[in-house]
Amino acid sequence: MIVPNRENLRRLAGDQWQKLRRQFDDLEALRRRLDYQTYLLAACALIASLLLGIGDLATQGAIARRQAEDLRATLGQVLPPALYDNDVLSNPKLISSAGEATGFDPTEVYLAKKDGEVTAAAFKVLASGGYAGPLTLMLGVDRDGHILGVRVIAHAETPGLGDKVETAKSDWILKFTGRSLDNTSPQGWRVKKDGGDFDQFAGATITPRAVVGGVQGGLKFFERHRQALLAATD
Ligand SMILES: Cc1cc2nc3c(=O)[nH]c(=O)nc-3n(C[C@H](O)[C@H](O)[C@H](O)COP(=O)(O)O)c2cc1C
Repeated sequence: MIVPNRENLRRLAGDQWQKLRRQFDDLEALRRRLDYQTYLLAACALIASLLLGIGDLATQGAIARRQAEDLRATLGQVLPPALYDNDVLSNPKLISSAGEATGFDPTEVYLAKKDGEVTAAAFKVLASGGYAGPLTLMLGVDRDGHILGVRVIAHAETPGLGDKVETAKSDWILKFTGRSLDNTSPQGWRVKKDGGDFDQFAGATITPRAVVGGVQGGLKFFERHRQALLAATD
């Protein structure tokens, strides 16, 4: 047994002091290590951000080219090639369309021209009221407001029910060709179930109802801006 005399007490105090010093040194080492890890983390984050930025820059051009190709392919389906000799994609007209049925503001209108004269126009319409949200349509319209073609270019409708608006699934969307506000009455711009001219699908009325409304809205938009669009010379 250790007798608590003065010598023993001094040794005990010395041991405690050494222990405290060691802990303090450990803390210092830990703090230095923490500093280093912070810098390492910051450097990693910086390198990752730089790589992401470089990747984004490197793919931007390719993505833009791909989007232009998709758009050109869609325009090719709603604007007969015989109607134009210009580059339809270049210089689209931006029409302020707040509150109008296209759902876009501005609406980009692509003009087809032959010998410098506007022969047709194409533009996108957001058809609201679909089963799973709006459907994006591309409409091609001739000078007189007759539909040259309609395509659904984006939708989230149910496969097997609402997706019959795609040309790959049925020819329903082709039935709009030739229609205009003049040759189809306001009552006609509805699905048959609502007393109009257009078929609904078996068990799916909501999607065709939305598309019919969108197409009619698109024609009204064209009619309102027709004179200005036909007069475009640049
Ligand atoms: C899971 C599920 C998915 C549906 N998807 C669609 C759809 O994509 N498009 C559609 O028109 N109706 C869809 N329907 C059916 C509609 O709910 C509705 O019954 C049908 O469009 C008939 O509409 P109506 O009552 O206005 O005639 C779906 C129903 C269910 C249960």
